Amino acid sequence: MPDIINPDIAKKVENLRSEIQRHNYRYYVMDDPQISDAQYDKMMQELIELEAKYPELSSPDSPTMKVGAAPVKKFEQIKHSVKMLSLDNAFSDSDILNFDRRVKEGLMTDEQILYTAEPKMDGVAVELVYKEGRLVSASTRGDGETGEDITSNVKTIRSVPMLLQQNKKEHIIPARLEARGEVIISKEGFKRLNEDMLSQGLALFANPRNAAAGSLRQLDSKVTAKRPLEIYFYGVGEVEGISCKSHWDWLYVLKELGLRINPHIKPKINIDAVYKYYKELEQMRSILPYDIDGMVVKVDSVQFQNQLGTKARSPRWAVAYKFKAIQETTKILDILVQVGRTGAVTPVACLESVNIGGVNVSRATLHNEDEIVKKDIRIGDTVLVQRAGDVIPEIVKVIDSARTGSEIIFCMPQNCPSCNSQLVRDEKEASVRCLNDTCPAKIKAQIEHFVSKRAFDIDGLGEKLIDQLVEKNYLASYADLFYMDKAKLEGLERMGLKSAENLFEAIDKSKNISFARFIYALGIRHVGEHIAEILASKYTEYEKFCGAEYDDLKNIKGVGPVVAKSIVDFLGLEDNLDKIKRMLGAGVNIRYEENRKNTTLDGKVFVLTGTLETMTRSEAAIKIKSLGGKISESVSKKTDYLVAGKSPGSKIEKAKAANVKIIDENSLKILLES
Ligand code: IVH
Repeated sequence: MPDIINPDIAKKVENLRSEIQRHNYRYYVMDDPQISDAQYDKMMQELIELEAKYPELSSPDSPTMKVGAAPVKKFEQIKHSVKMLSLDNAFSDSDILNFDRRVKEGLMTDEQILYTAEPKMDGVAVELVYKEGRLVSASTRGDGETGEDITSNVKTIRSVPMLLQQNKKEHIIPARLEARGEVIISKEGFKRLNEDMLSQGLALFANPRNAAAGSLRQLDSKVTAKRPLEIYFYGVGEVEGISCKSHWDWLYVLKELGLRINPHIKPKINIDAVYKYYKELEQMRSILPYDIDGMVVKVDSVQFQNQLGTKARSPRWAVAYKFKAIQETTKILDILVQVGRTGAVTPVACLESVNIGGVNVSRATLHNEDEIVKKDIRIGDTVLVQRAGDVIPEIVKVIDSARTGSEIIFCMPQNCPSCNSQLVRDEKEASVRCLNDTCPAKIKAQIEHFVSKRAFDIDGLGEKLIDQLVEKNYLASYADLFYMDKAKLEGLERMGLKSAENLFEAIDKSKNISFARFIYALGIRHVGEHIAEILASKYTEYEKFCGAEYDDLKNIKGVGPVVAKSIVDFLGLEDNLDKIKRMLGAGVNIRYEENRKNTTLDGKVFVLTGTLETMTRSEAAIKIKSLGGKISESVSKKTDYLVAGKSPGSKIEKAKAANVKIIDENSLKILLES
């Protein structure tokens, strides 16, 4: 006879589930959490333990079911009840005015039409079906009529509720709801995911959209569960039990039911405001935590939408107002090779200068020789170049039709262009390296990295000056920076007494440094800012870090075998340990992270707005979080600080109204350093 479960335990499980669901809603949908992450984790842990102890109580709708199901051989097909359409594009102001004109003509009215304007998120379109409030299936768009069944994968996404919620008594749970939205990976999630892939020796994703698509198409949902997928809903398919008169009403209903919508949607605005908001959104683009490639403009009235109808693949009532091209064509004038700080030799295309989205581009990375061969890139080719956010421009493809026959095939050199030592090919990474530790190009790149903003942040030491210092043998490594002779400096090209004094002052100021920055500055291969922060939180003395063993490092979450090996290799070189000792000997003072819980930012909620100058918004967010702070997208009473960069927008007013402390980038830096 099966054991009879104590009704108190069943009740406890039920309570935990509904509490967790409620807090998920506060966190993901309202962006206004009511409990700390630690309290949330405790509840989740308790539920996991109870479900493990009493399997009879487990349920497919439990919020613990985010770990993935058994793998499948292939995806089944799911037919969409209502076709999933795509959107026509508008590229210019006149395109958007034409769209407005066509809408008015279609509706046979001169009256002002109201639109809802939304960020066009760059991810993967999905449809989720909730029956009687329960998530029953999820599919990709496919060809618009039929998509692939990715239910198990979508269920692992934390912002996807298994059950719809009834916020107020009068809100009904629809008998059937087909909710449509975009699955994305944030910029920060992408960075971490690729660091993770790297540490496992796996191939990196090219961009967040590819990463989201690849993660959703995993046959093993346990793999998907580990990916930082998120969802934003933007529309509905077939719905039974609720009807709405406007698109904005639908979005409101989705939100009330617990489905997250984008916080930057502008409801019910006229075409002039649409145009104005487009400009605003374009400005915000780089500081949003996820990629957007334009703005979707939708006629708000459902009746008008129906009147306008659809074409074969796109509705007449909506348009994607794309941001300015971040791709342009230009010509490759030459291909050079650059030696990086780790000795990696990278081919770089010198381009006929071209303006891409407001920035002049004259160089693009070619990554490695394999990439050149794969894309068949030759000197003299006309190519399509892409610039995305703050990443290095790259070549998308060669424009074959522009070939004249006079293009020259590029061959990777056998010897280092700087020190002439024989280059070594790393087959696994398709990279070529210079292994000479005294290679001047390598030393220059190491020093450039060492003095950069996020490392020692030494102002006044540009590329040209570093070149001179290395060439004159004044610097043989970054450690020598702290032993330079002022008199020698003054004699250098374009270096007077004042600049030399300023530089010495900057070097002196930089000596007080956090351990994370110190580790990052060392330039260890694969050790970026994030891993440096992890290491700094594990080791509270540099001696312990210097003596770290491969097995200890490998087992640190976020480090992994590849990075661990690279650290051990670095620390295994007497010369590197010597550099560290010399820096400390010169008065470099490392600040260790004592008790993270006692940091000033612990639990403090930050909202970031406007453009920051010395760091990107996601970098600021990473730092704030690493010190125990939290990031929220919108200002509320719970916000502790609004960090306002350039062109901060409407959040300032909101913050003033809510009596939230507004600080600038400088004050943030002081807080971060304190
Ligand atoms: S509405 C009939 N809204 O853009 C309307 N789409 O080519 C169909 N997308 O496949 C889409 N953000 O994946 C809509 N706020 C948004 C969107 C959005 C991103 C994607 C979606 C769709 C593609 C349109």
